[in-house]
Amino acid sequence: MSKIMVTGCSGFIGTHLTKRLLESGFHVIGYDLNASLLRDRNFEFIKGDILDVEKLQESMGGCKSVFHLAAQTKVPASTENPLADFKTNAEGTFNVLSVAKEHGAKVVYASTSTVYGIAETPTKESHPLQPISFYGASKAAGDMYCFAFNSTFGLDTIVLRIFNAYGPGNAKGVMYDLFKKLERDPTYLEIIGTGLQEKDYIYIDDTVDALMIAYERGASGEAYNVGSGISTTVNEIAELIFDILDIHPKVTYTGKSWKGDVESSLADISKLKNLGWNPKVGIEDGIEKLYEWMQ
Ligand SMILES: NC(=O)c1ccc[n+]([C@@H]2O[C@H](COP(=O)([O-])OP(=O)(O)OC[C@H]3O[C@@H](n4cnc5c(N)ncnc54)[C@H](O)[C@@H]3O)[C@@H](O)[C@H]2O)c1
Repeated sequence: MSKIMVTGCSGFIGTHLTKRLLESGFHVIGYDLNASLLRDRNFEFIKGDILDVEKLQESMGGCKSVFHLAAQTKVPASTENPLADFKTNAEGTFNVLSVAKEHGAKVVYASTSTVYGIAETPTKESHPLQPISFYGASKAAGDMYCFAFNSTFGLDTIVLRIFNAYGPGNAKGVMYDLFKKLERDPTYLEIIGTGLQEKDYIYIDDTVDALMIAYERGASGEAYNVGSGISTTVNEIAELIFDILDIHPKVTYTGKSWKGDVESSLADISKLKNLGWNPKVGIEDGIEKLYEWMQ
């Protein structure tokens, strides 16, 4: 049975990915600062920090591949403490790559659309990386180290630039926040920003499919976008949520988003589609599934 490591196994995407890997017959070494809720005889959890090179070194023994998902994942937190964000995301990714090189393990790195900053849309993988937040910068450093380890040492690396993943298990993000606000007061909704922010949202099962297909069929040293290829405004999301809850609240806007927020994103997903991947879940169904999970 193949042994595979998932860093960040206890997070939103890590939990879903680990389940999928177990279903696919892998033995998974989960590595995270926080405990995992998963229990399976083929799942081994190791409480560890990606900044602890020695622990990573011993934990990765026998793994033929690593899905590297562990990260500081919030833009506002990266603005508050850029150095901590840099350490976890840039240095941490460097550590994972260095240790993977020692073990000859392939690395699939969960990067983000945020690395593109304010980009031409639909954004192709060849678009320049011009992040506007510390989070975007530290994650982009991870992309660069993947390319450097690949070209210098021939390490097998695949970079996946995930747009906005959502769905059951994600207790963060715009959809979750809107549901929570409306749960407290169904008659009134304050939207952060103008409501016109327009982003590419990708359902979690489609995201996990993308990780698996890129792992199996992706070309070494390449980057792939993971998005739906459709962008949706916050106002449109709010309307879908009002329909699900059957409410008509009064809506106001703060007018301004948080610092470092990329207010418009849309992925060109043709590169990953060429590997045989296709997103299946539309935003209406996806939001419905998120709502069911929240109940
Ligand atoms: N969710 C999205 O929409 C999205 C979009 C683009 C990219 N990504 C990337 O995908 C990955 C997973 O995202 P997520 O939404 O599941 O995030 P998450 O915040 O839910 O999970 C991240 C996990 O990493 C762990 N972690 C943090 N620092 C660590 C450290 N020093 N050592 C070990 N573990 C550590 C956390 O405990 C957590 O369990 C991240 O790399 C993120 O940048 C996510």
